[in-house]
Amino acid sequence: MLKHAKKYRILILDFGSQYSQLLARRIRELGIYCELWKWNADEKQIKKFNPKGIILSGGPESATTKNSPKAPKYVFLANIPVLGICYGMHIMTKQLGGKIQTSSKREFGLTKICITSNSPLLHNIKNTKKIQNNLNVWMSHEDKIITIPKNFTTIAKTQSCPFAIISNEKKNFYGIQFHPEVTHTQQGKSILKNFVIKICKCESLWNSDNIIKNLIKNIKKKIGNNEKVMLGFSGGIDSLVTALLLKKAIGKRLLCIFIDNGLLQFKRNKKHIQFFKKNYNLKIIYISAKQQFFNAISGITDPETKRKIIGKIFIETFNKKASKLSKIKWLAQGTIYSDVIESAQSIQNNSTHLIKSHHNVGGLPKKMNIKLIEPIKKLFKDEVRNIGKKLGLSHNILYRHPFPGPGLGIRILGEIKQKYCDILRKSDKIFIEELKNFDLYHKVNQAFTIFIPVRSVGIMGDKRKYDCIIALRAIESIDFMTACCSNLPYNLLTKVSNRIINEITGISRVVYDISSKPPATIEWE
Ligand code: XMP
Repeated sequence: MLKHAKKYRILILDFGSQYSQLLARRIRELGIYCELWKWNADEKQIKKFNPKGIILSGGPESATTKNSPKAPKYVFLANIPVLGICYGMHIMTKQLGGKIQTSSKREFGLTKICITSNSPLLHNIKNTKKIQNNLNVWMSHEDKIITIPKNFTTIAKTQSCPFAIISNEKKNFYGIQFHPEVTHTQQGKSILKNFVIKICKCESLWNSDNIIKNLIKNIKKKIGNNEKVMLGFSGGIDSLVTALLLKKAIGKRLLCIFIDNGLLQFKRNKKHIQFFKKNYNLKIIYISAKQQFFNAISGITDPETKRKIIGKIFIETFNKKASKLSKIKWLAQGTIYSDVIESAQSIQNNSTHLIKSHHNVGGLPKKMNIKLIEPIKKLFKDEVRNIGKKLGLSHNILYRHPFPGPGLGIRILGEIKQKYCDILRKSDKIFIEELKNFDLYHKVNQAFTIFIPVRSVGIMGDKRKYDCIIALRAIESIDFMTACCSNLPYNLLTKVSNRIINEITGISRVVYDISSKPPATIEWE
């Protein structure tokens, strides 16, 4: 009998660490389903989720202050294992009666810990051979524990931190000062594995085969035997995997809608969708809504307003089509877990901290006359890729660079004009072509061009040019939350620059964006 892939689950309470998503992905990689919730989740919700263990993440706050965010009291009364990481360890210590202090010696980066005692958390953890009992770990903390709570013991220490790992094995409470989720921590994954498998007694059921079977079962249950579903289809990996799962669950009752808003990449047109119709036997309707989009965004220069308008017209176009089709009761979207987490974070942080509104989440009108289904909204990108692979998608499709919902609209600074879009499509095509020629396309995680409507002087064939600027952006990133500029070879960059200036009318200069995220973002708007 099929065991539910989510039977064994871990709850991560997020105190705002930059590594929280990474931590969740590590647990999933171990074959255990987990969810990332805000730190102040209520008891009722936690009981309903019924986790086998709870992890308290790290975070930027200091546990020494009066109002530092605390774990719900229930966490320590639920009779389930708890693992506190960095801030999570500090706050657990404080809540259970220990003491924390801001240390004069900060520890950031690689540090050696010395294991002083056996623990199930360190089961089969091999120390480096030369120096017995030493392990390289990734630290990032200022505060440290000065008194551990009653009934806790010390398992590891560093030179400046006497409590690097602590535990109360009777209660199954563990605290780690370093970050086991970061690859720099030697055997960090094994430590997490010991916690979820040995201590929480989870079984690894979260794998692609099980996930696919469960998702199909859930879709069938939700949609029933008659109702039809309409899917917003872009041809990207998320919407394609969503389409294939829906197709397996409800067959011909799936209808995909491809909206051409005029802000798409080169050749992402009517012809392009033939490929998906033919190869994946999908029913896809092509809607050209270019004019509606351009009319609505004409004269708009503010990035957030542009994003909102593009999202709004998208949904309106959708709703209009749905109302004309009989029996369409469901709108499907290829939303994934990072989109959900990020938009929840921007809502939690309130709108003054909003950096960008992503229109695939939260952009839907409050009153929709159609029900929403998002089959993969609990999956991370790497899980979507693994499922896509199982469903037979090619490497090129699986690893195509992401393309944002608002498309070229956020890669043209200021007002969007059709002629700017045409230029940008051409420059983007050249950049991607050359990355492929240099065999570097899959070495960067996202690459594209940006149109800067500022004119600069150039010279071509003895004639003065006074034209606009194209910026190239190529980044390396694991989760797109942080990124660094890719160190592309100069001969590639100069070739791309020459081709863009020579082949595209209206461009006099090409620049390369070398900023990291943070402080810059990946897209320019
Ligand atoms: P930023 O610019 O926020 O981008 O650093 C991070 C990643 O998200 C993509 N992105 C979007 N994707 N709808 C999307 O589907 C959006 O509104 C959106 N805005 C940014 C961006 O391409 C990068 O991969």
